[in-house]
Amino acid sequence: MRNILIAGNWKMNMTVTEAAAFFKSFRIKKNDKVELLFCPPYVDLPMARFFLENSSIRWGAQNVYPEEKGAFTGEISPAMLKDLGCSYVICGHSERRQILGESDEFVARKVKAVLAVGMVPILCVGETAEERKLGQTEERIGSEIRTALFELSEEDAARLVIAYEPIWAIGSGTAATPADAEDISSFIRKTVKAVAGKKAAEAVRILYGGSVTDENIGDFLKEKDIDGGLVGGASLKAETFLSIYKKACE
Ligand code: PGA
Repeated sequence: MRNILIAGNWKMNMTVTEAAAFFKSFRIKKNDKVELLFCPPYVDLPMARFFLENSSIRWGAQNVYPEEKGAFTGEISPAMLKDLGCSYVICGHSERRQILGESDEFVARKVKAVLAVGMVPILCVGETAEERKLGQTEERIGSEIRTALFELSEEDAARLVIAYEPIWAIGSGTAATPADAEDISSFIRKTVKAVAGKKAAEAVRILYGGSVTDENIGDFLKEKDIDGGLVGGASLKAETFLSIYKKACE
């Protein structure tokens, strides 16, 4: 059985001072079947560790640079994140692919680098509104997944989390329907099976992301291939994010 993962992606929000105030008062009731994760900006990670390390809540990063160390000004290595107690790293979020021009190949290197130090990559995939209109959704997502999984062993592929995030749904207030998200999630699982094998396909956790709220999370989690949510805007409000977690525990 796959555990549910509710991951909050804070994006470029929350100063260290704001993050400290947020984490200080954020508490949950532990649930063995539901994991709760915060991915705050890099600078907030020490604060996350300070306030969350004696709780069941996990923390992780929104990005990483796929090299061990060296002359990469401004970048952060997998080992640095691991040392801060990160469990997960978001790789290839559509904002990075679109705004910073990250290619499928570059994202694949990040996935490998994160696995190499024992953290779990959350590989983001998803289509634009235009691609959806042109019927190219599966082509786009299939290629994002094949490139990221190409060089992974079945064992490593099994540890992955894949977030299906239709780009048109992110921050728009209009989520995909649970049925559409399930269609693509099932396609994602089939693709993992074809590339990495049956065991990996059964173990990989697939999240839906894009305008997730405490009102729609329950419906997404009812779908067979959806194992959690990647939550942007709604993770910035403690009360709403807590309510999403509680719905996931139901
Ligand atoms: P959103 O963002 O929940 O604000 O739509 C999701 C994401 O980009 O991960």
